[in-house]
Amino acid sequence: MLKVTYYGHSAFRLSDGSQSLIIDPFLSNNPVSPVKAEEIKADYVVLTHAHGDHIGDALKIAQQNNATIIAVFELANYCASKGAKIHDMHIGGGYNFPFGRLKFTIAHHGSSNNDGQYMGSPAGVVISMGGKNLYHCGDTGLFYDMKLIGEMTPIDIMLVPIGDNYTMGIDDAVKAVELTNPKIAIPMHYNTFDVIKADPSIFGKKLTDIGKNSIIMSYGETIEI
Ligand code: NI
Ligand code: MN
Repeated sequence: MLKVTYYGHSAFRLSDGSQSLIIDPFLSNNPVSPVKAEEIKADYVVLTHAHGDHIGDALKIAQQNNATIIAVFELANYCASKGAKIHDMHIGGGYNFPFGRLKFTIAHHGSSNNDGQYMGSPAGVVISMGGKNLYHCGDTGLFYDMKLIGEMTPIDIMLVPIGDNYTMGIDDAVKAVELTNPKIAIPMHYNTFDVIKADPSIFGKKLTDIGKNSIIMSYGETIEI
């Protein structure tokens, strides 16, 4: 069993009933987040890259929960320099954590922090937890190797950016789902700001047309698979 909660933008909390983690916890400055960072309980914080709309409240949430931040080497060590407990990894590497296995994938994007410092490669992440496999694409353009990601780990849930401008737009996101072939696709990284406005029902419709399932999550909603 895996519970997935959406806080808007690219922020999701995963729980298997005993362990929990939060991915890209952009909450306090996120205009659509239904929760504040202070309310979040998590054993781990997973970061795909260092942009402000992803690192968000990571340091605060890690500190208040005595949680470990999992990220690529450069970003993890930046978090450690700010006092966080970390587990550093890199693209292509997986590790068996108490909650399950986590592996970083490529993502085509940037990753500097708010001070403009280089924070290593941006990433996507495949997480096996509660008997399910979830792929959070991070921020990325479309790439053909998504097919390989889905072949190496059959994906139950794929979290896909659809907002365009900084990431894939709807048509590329539909192709990404076709390549990865998950059981369910969930759109993310849209409608947080004007520049990434997108209609998720169009994404859902285009997936239906190619025989793929999607769930459009509302802010604060939890689904269980
Ligand atoms: Ni970004
Ligand atoms: Mn972003």
